[in-house]
Amino acid sequence: MKIFLDTANVGEIKEAAKLGFLDGVTTNPTLIAKEKRKFEDAIREICEVCAGPVSAECITERFEDLMPEARRLAKLASNVVVKIPLTREGLKAVRACSQEGIKVNVTLCFSANQALFAAKAGATFISPFIGRLDDAGHEGMQVIRDIVQIYRNYAFKTEVLTASIRHPLHVLEAAKAGSHVATLPFAVFEKVIAHPLTDAGVAKFLEDYRKIPR
Ligand code: E4P
Repeated sequence: MKIFLDTANVGEIKEAAKLGFLDGVTTNPTLIAKEKRKFEDAIREICEVCAGPVSAECITERFEDLMPEARRLAKLASNVVVKIPLTREGLKAVRACSQEGIKVNVTLCFSANQALFAAKAGATFISPFIGRLDDAGHEGMQVIRDIVQIYRNYAFKTEVLTASIRHPLHVLEAAKAGSHVATLPFAVFEKVIAHPLTDAGVAKFLEDYRKIPR
């Protein structure tokens, strides 16, 4: 499973990239607004720090507006993936983008049927928001399982990108379901690495090592 970071904070991306296996980054307007900097500047810098796919989201809604916006965002850097919401107008733009060779991450997906249509439109990635589904009383992870099964049934090339992850159990379940990608907030990224028994074990071994006669 590829690991993306779900952030627009360049410091967090640099920190995660030090591990050497950060595969990409997802952003959205909310995450970029938190950084209090210009949208294009943020995307360009993130694309320099992370060589993998970097999602940059369109904010227009009509097909006629989405296409020039998608083309503009795609030109910011060679690793930009344009994010387009899963709406009727959005799907038209996904289809047109895929015909033009623009990579698209279809965002704000909340059902497996929506994901089926996104794949048929030619999406590069589909982003089901599992945390928001859980918040609304649904089982977000079941949507991931259903999409993985549907994509396998029909050999779709679209990659399932598990999004709106809230805790390490979401990461584990996404991996078990066969999600191609999981995008993690930095706090979850850190929680996946850390375990209190690992810390206690390291401390104990160090303590005992010091007792070994030299
Ligand atoms: C995905 O690309 C989105 O940026 C993100 O995962 C949304 O997560 P949230 O529901 O925590 O805002």
